[in-house]
Amino acid sequence: MAVTLAIAFLIIVTIVFAVAFVATSTPESTRSPAIDAQSYATEVAAALEGASASEGEALIEALHCSACHVSGEGRVAPLFIGLADRAATRRPPLSPAQYLYESIVMPGAYLADGYANSMPANFADRLTQAEIGHIIAFLLSA
Ligand code: HEC
Repeated sequence: MAVTLAIAFLIIVTIVFAVAFVATSTPESTRSPAIDAQSYATEVAAALEGASASEGEALIEALHCSACHVSGEGRVAPLFIGLADRAATRRPPLSPAQYLYESIVMPGAYLADGYANSMPANFADRLTQAEIGHIIAFLLSA
């Protein structure tokens, strides 16, 4: 009896550890958060209020986004040209602006096909919501 209980206990402990291992071995950044049409909607609307594409262009210059997105000629990161159209198809039901917002504040949430998870993940800390709005306004015009 005691032996049976001990074996049952060991099996349960093993299962719990196995489940915990599988759960934690998926890197946080590649786990896509659940999204719906309202995701980031409030943040995006606020960020886009008074947003200016030309200020966005200047920020993209200052933050060296182009080092990966332009100079790499598409090998390092997706080109910004045509991004406004592609953003509409990337992660439905996110709107282009919602998708761009997520791409900047949480780059690992969705990886553009064929690219590594190498975009800096700290822009959400480095930029104000208004600055993110400027950048989205520029990218929507790209
Ligand atoms: C070190 C290289 C690097 C830098 C610097 C970088 N990115 Fe990225 N970015 C990537 C890579 C690689 C991807 C593709 C993988 C992914 O989807 O996260 C990406 C994806 C994106 C996407 C989604 C593109 C698409 O086609 O779906 C947007 C938008 C974006 N970056 C914006 C920016 C902005 C804005 C900046 C500057 C504030 C920036 N990135 C700086 C590497 C970089």
